[in-house]
Amino acid sequence: MIKVGLVETEIVGLDAIDRAVARLRAGTLVALPTETVYGLAALASDADAVARIFVAKGRPATNPLIVHVSDATQARSVVAEWPSLAQTLTDAFWPGPLTLVLPRAASVPDIVTAGLDSVAVRAPAHPVFRRVLEQTGPLAAPSANRSNAVSPTRAEHVRASLGGRIELILDGGPCEVGIESTVLSLLGDTPTVLRLGAVTPAMLREVIGDVQVRELVEEGARRSPGTGARHYAPDAEVVFVTHGDEEALRAALTEGGAAIVHTLQHAGPHRRLPDDPEGFARGLYDALHALDADHDRIVIERVPDSAEWAAVADRLRRASRLG
Ligand code: TXA
Ligand code: MG
Repeated sequence: MIKVGLVETEIVGLDAIDRAVARLRAGTLVALPTETVYGLAALASDADAVARIFVAKGRPATNPLIVHVSDATQARSVVAEWPSLAQTLTDAFWPGPLTLVLPRAASVPDIVTAGLDSVAVRAPAHPVFRRVLEQTGPLAAPSANRSNAVSPTRAEHVRASLGGRIELILDGGPCEVGIESTVLSLLGDTPTVLRLGAVTPAMLREVIGDVQVRELVEEGARRSPGTGARHYAPDAEVVFVTHGDEEALRAALTEGGAAIVHTLQHAGPHRRLPDDPEGFARGLYDALHALDADHDRIVIERVPDSAEWAAVADRLRRASRLG
């Protein structure tokens, strides 16, 4: 029987990188900072260690993990094909928040890819994660939170979600990007965005031309696992009000709760996020974690309906239990 909730969870500083590397090599899980969100890492080649990721997160075995690599050379060791498109994309966007889905190498354990013939790979930009990867080789790492909860952008968020279930969290400060990477599949004829992120479809098109975006389809339909509408949701009820609508905000908060605003003013409990997509994304999960701890209802001012805000709008939709 696997027991959970019995280990002591330690947050350590960057002077403990060597210890984190040693633990990973020994098959232990370690939470590490990336530029997007914190990841819960295990050696990608160690099926037993990877299995412990699924247990710690309560993640369904049908949801494949991203394999993190230091660079394109390491990426080539976990894929079966490296098309010129992959080289062009990684030259342009790696290290950074772009994950590529490619045919997988036979050496990647089934559990990593949930039995799929493809593997998701990404080279994170965070210097700490990169230093670890150079010493450990490829690391499987989903976001370091309980399955379906809001991703962590600070070491404390990891402890709040996975405390008692993992031993070590390497604190690399708050994440710069703040939302999960763009996932781009190169399996079909046309490159397809499966999850929106900081690398936008427009940025991809500038480099490789034609790119399609898999539309949000109804829950239950065939789609990338882990892109379900109810992912990334806080415990609190999440309600939206129209961008710039003071009156709607006041009405939504008459029975209590806290607000996340970016143009509106609010005197009660709230978090104010910057009125630009990058700044909003950077602060969003921290605001959700902070307000979720003390409130049953979070009222969020909607963001503009434009291409630049699409990744943020996607995460806001998923934060709502209404989908
Ligand atoms: O920014 C990120 O991507 C963060 C940091 C830690 O790197 N990681 C992350 O991992 O968000 P996770 O496991 O929370 O989300 C991975 C997403 C899921 O939606 C999963 O279904 C999808 O990538 N994915 C993984 N392998 C796939 C594959 N072979 N085909 C299609 N989708 C895949
Ligand atoms: Mg996740």
